[in-house]
Amino acid sequence: MPCSLPEFSLPLITIFFLVFGASNVANAIVPPSSTFKYVNEGEFGESSVEYLADYRPLLTYLFPFQLCFYNTTPNAFTLALRMGSPRSESIVRWVWEANRGRLVRENATLTFGSDGNLVLADADGTVAWQTATANKGVVGLKILPNGNLVLYDKKGKFIWQSFDHPTDTLLVGQTLRSNGPNKLVSRMSIADGSAGPYRFVMEQRFLKMYYKTKNSASPLL
Ligand SMILES: *[C@@H]1O[C@H](CO)[C@@H](O)[C@H](O)[C@H]1NC(C)=O
Repeated sequence: MPCSLPEFSLPLITIFFLVFGASNVANAIVPPSSTFKYVNEGEFGESSVEYLADYRPLLTYLFPFQLCFYNTTPNAFTLALRMGSPRSESIVRWVWEANRGRLVRENATLTFGSDGNLVLADADGTVAWQTATANKGVVGLKILPNGNLVLYDKKGKFIWQSFDHPTDTLLVGQTLRSNGPNKLVSRMSIADGSAGPYRFVMEQRFLKMYYKTKNSASPLL
């Protein structure tokens, strides 16, 4: 029966791929020395920073970038990347935010586990934000010199990168693409970091600026 071979061989190849493909990723875990768990607690930093925020610097940094928890209202924190030197004259800015509009409280945790997932959980354990990279081959996390926070696999390939999730700032080397991360959205106000009225969008052929107020049905161009 000449037909039986192809019918039979396809599932075999699939099984072969599944077994070897899956084990390849499952073998890749983050070494214990690279995992971490931060708790949002303790003293605030002393420098003056953008939005007049209070902040707690974390040990994930590469000068002049540093991951921090910051808040502009009590007990409502954003995990964000800070840029600048407290010693320089220019303002220290927030250039990327993880949990925009989904603020966390005192004792929230940021965990980078051996499975390669980076998870921000509120004090009661509710997940506020995550990279959703569990068991995808991630072996480490780092901040690159251009301010891109990346989770990489053993070949150095980026499995997740903050440059794919822009907030309201583009850093040098970061791009907007019509078929990818395509927009920047302003914040509501200095104190309120949720999505505001201005959107800067890379569309098929044009870069467009939209403005939406509570009263306008659709955004104004
Ligand atoms: C944070 O957790 C610690 C240890 O469990 C506790 O003592 C403290 O009261 C908590 N802080 C807040 C603001 O709930």
